[in-house]
Amino acid sequence: MKYTIAVIPGDGIGPEVIAQAKKALNAIADVYNHTFIYKEALMGACSIDKTGNPLPNETLSICKKSDAILFGAIGHPKYDNDPTAKVRPEQGLLKLRKELGLFCNVRPVKAYDQLIANSPLKKEIIKGTDISIFRELTGGIYFGIKELSDDGQVAFDGCSYSVEEIERIAHLAFKEAQTRRKKLTLVDKANVLETSRLWRKTVTELAIQYPDVTLDFLFVDNAAMQLILNPKQFDVILTENLFGDIISDEASVIGGSIGLLASSSVGKGNALFEPIHGSFPQATGKDIANPLASILSAALLLKHLGLFIEANAIERAVEKSLVLGITTEDIKGKNSFSASTSKVGDFIADYIENQDESNLNFQNIYMGQSTII
Ligand code: IPM
Ligand code: MG
Repeated sequence: MKYTIAVIPGDGIGPEVIAQAKKALNAIADVYNHTFIYKEALMGACSIDKTGNPLPNETLSICKKSDAILFGAIGHPKYDNDPTAKVRPEQGLLKLRKELGLFCNVRPVKAYDQLIANSPLKKEIIKGTDISIFRELTGGIYFGIKELSDDGQVAFDGCSYSVEEIERIAHLAFKEAQTRRKKLTLVDKANVLETSRLWRKTVTELAIQYPDVTLDFLFVDNAAMQLILNPKQFDVILTENLFGDIISDEASVIGGSIGLLASSSVGKGNALFEPIHGSFPQATGKDIANPLASILSAALLLKHLGLFIEANAIERAVEKSLVLGITTEDIKGKNSFSASTSKVGDFIADYIENQDESNLNFQNIYMGQSTII
């Protein structure tokens, strides 16, 4: 089949990791006879540098016309350290999410057995963790009215949610729970915030339609603590935009590295796939960033296109790289060597192309112990 994929490499390590995801997709195209037509587009700090605009109209129209969007990372320290900047890279991503109606961001968090020692958390606490975080993505404080008083002494960020905004993502989260361990935890701050109380009321009312799913509630401060104390208690977590942003970074510690977490953002029509890590400016251009989250984002993209066998081939290749220890520095075990971003990408692509090769052969080639390349 033929698919058009909008590719937005973005800033920092974005282009490097996206290049590896494309290698994986190209291998899939080869093996399973598909054609992926990539339409590259600008967004973020690189786009401000070139066009003055973090999200040019052309990017938006490329995305709207594509079957799916693959995105790298956004952000640059020159904006992070300048709170007065009027145009910011992140505005591009936020506008894209809003314009495409990508209201539901799904962030799976898994403790991979091979990486359990990488997490600073105790093995017995994280082993077996498998959580799916459903983060609302186009509402709340991110998109509320923002104001700064004329004298610069008072700032304001408004937070609002409508029943409709809550219901549409809650339905998706309940449905996901039905395919898993049938537990849904709503994370909010209903003891303080009016918006959170509306979330609780709305989600409680919806729960009647999903009698097989157990619904429970946690205040976000407690949830932050429970995620570290006992992450296995969670199945699907549903939460609003800002809380989801924060707890998903926290949850990434369970997986051993944020460099492994992929995410999908879906809505009414379009869908975008991205690693949850940021632009990691310190690593830019060094070929050291972990490409697995981007590669796993490509797998999520394939699932969205209905290509499940293909997605599984990518996931198996990623697992193999973990088993063999062909990984970047951030997740290197005690005895394994560390590979560059591009070497990990080459391995994944090769593994997809030659799935019948023996492990040993791959290991030798990629650990530089073989001359057969
Ligand atoms: C994320 C990021 C973004 C967010 C930034 C880059 C705007 O942190 O996707 O989690 O806050 O949503
Ligand atoms: Mg974030």
